[in-house]
Amino acid sequence: MSAQAQKQAAAEAAIAKIQSGSVIGVGSGSTVDCFVDALAASDVEIEAAVPASEATAERLRHHGIEVRDANGAGELAVYVDGADEITRHLQMIKGGGGALTREKVIAAIARRFVCIVDESKWVTALGDFPLPVEVIPMARSYVGRELLKLGGRPELREHFTTDNGNVILDVRSLDCSEPIALERRLNNIAGVVTNGLFAVRPADELLVGTDTGVQRFT
Ligand code: 5RP
Repeated sequence: MSAQAQKQAAAEAAIAKIQSGSVIGVGSGSTVDCFVDALAASDVEIEAAVPASEATAERLRHHGIEVRDANGAGELAVYVDGADEITRHLQMIKGGGGALTREKVIAAIARRFVCIVDESKWVTALGDFPLPVEVIPMARSYVGRELLKLGGRPELREHFTTDNGNVILDVRSLDCSEPIALERRLNNIAGVVTNGLFAVRPADELLVGTDTGVQRFT
């Protein structure tokens, strides 16, 4: 089965987690695109969705699904999003698409985080995927130097500005063996908006599309 078919299977399995009439959070990326399309084709009719990116907002609107701002949406029933890496502890690296800050905010205001991935994202330890760090532009060099001190090898994501007007440093070689501590430490560097470790607030449920069906972990 292709990675795309696995994404599709995980996305379709997530529809069962959504109640009609609810307001949900929706992440970003190709797996989430499958979810939005599957939601639109299903019998489930949500009241509205809070999207993590402009691209997801556009896709939701295209299907006639109401888009709401996080401010004023209150607590969300469920947040559905993908990941670049996820472990058995449901801790993740996210932000490959650059939407990590909005994703983290929406995850924080959702009662339940359902992560949907293809099998390639399912890892025993975090850190092979370069860790995205969103930084305000004037702090780029300073934050880069601080990341070097921590053993990381930061690289500016070329020709990319986040939906919040910031830049992304993709960091290789960081020791991610204690993800909660590292997430907090990186967020304490002046100029860092957020980083792509989702360990302080992990997912609550994981749906992995595999060749033998969708596996579920909690
Ligand atoms: C975007 C993300 C995505 O969830 C992550 O990059 C996975 O994307 P895809 O579903 O396309 O593999 O964190 O910021």
